[in-house]
Amino acid sequence: MAGAVETSEDLRLAYTRLRAAYQQSLRYACDLKSIHDRLQRAFLQSLLGLANALEAKDPYTRGHSERVAGLAQRLACRLGFSPSEARVIAQAGLLHDLGKIGIPESVLRKPGPLTGEEWALMREHPVVGARIVAPLEFFSDGALIIRHHHERQDGSGYPAGLAGGAIPLGARIVAVADVYDALTSERPYRRSLERMEALRRIEAAAERLLDAGIVSAFLRLVTDGCPDAPL
Ligand SMILES: [Fe+2]
Repeated sequence: MAGAVETSEDLRLAYTRLRAAYQQSLRYACDLKSIHDRLQRAFLQSLLGLANALEAKDPYTRGHSERVAGLAQRLACRLGFSPSEARVIAQAGLLHDLGKIGIPESVLRKPGPLTGEEWALMREHPVVGARIVAPLEFFSDGALIIRHHHERQDGSGYPAGLAGGAIPLGARIVAVADVYDALTSERPYRRSLERMEALRRIEAAAERLLDAGIVSAFLRLVTDGCPDAPL
């Protein structure tokens, strides 16, 4: 009888120890997750610093990346993406033109048409941007969006000439936000368009250049509320 009591006491002790060890490992996992999240944020903050440096080089694009990020995030939420997926799309929107960092200011700010050589340089920026963020393994979806944000529905875009559904969905969302903000912003080579005119042009670009489903979600977003409002 005494032996049975001892065994039961041993079991209880073992169970208590096991539970304590389990709770300790849960705490470690939480700590690791929080360190991992902090590291991710620190990486992205550094990249944001680079994006800001890029906008400092080119006053015409000041605020462009942040506006594209905000619009892309709202569009992604409207299209049913989860909050964490929408966040990656917003981060990619923030960094989409990062690859322009190596382009000389004389080209970025050129008031007239670019030469063939200058265009070739400009067209490299999606690939250069994707390469800059490539070491961030957790941001591989974002890198893909950056790489393909200048693809077009009919395959006439760059760098890969992807068409329709072959273009990553996040890149199609960022493309709509990017085009809208570019049209409604002042550029060295043209004045900004009124919002209604910009929307008319975006609607006209649906199917051939931009994803028609995303364009109609964007138009609904604009109808429901101000697309420039902060998130
Ligand atoms: Fe771009």
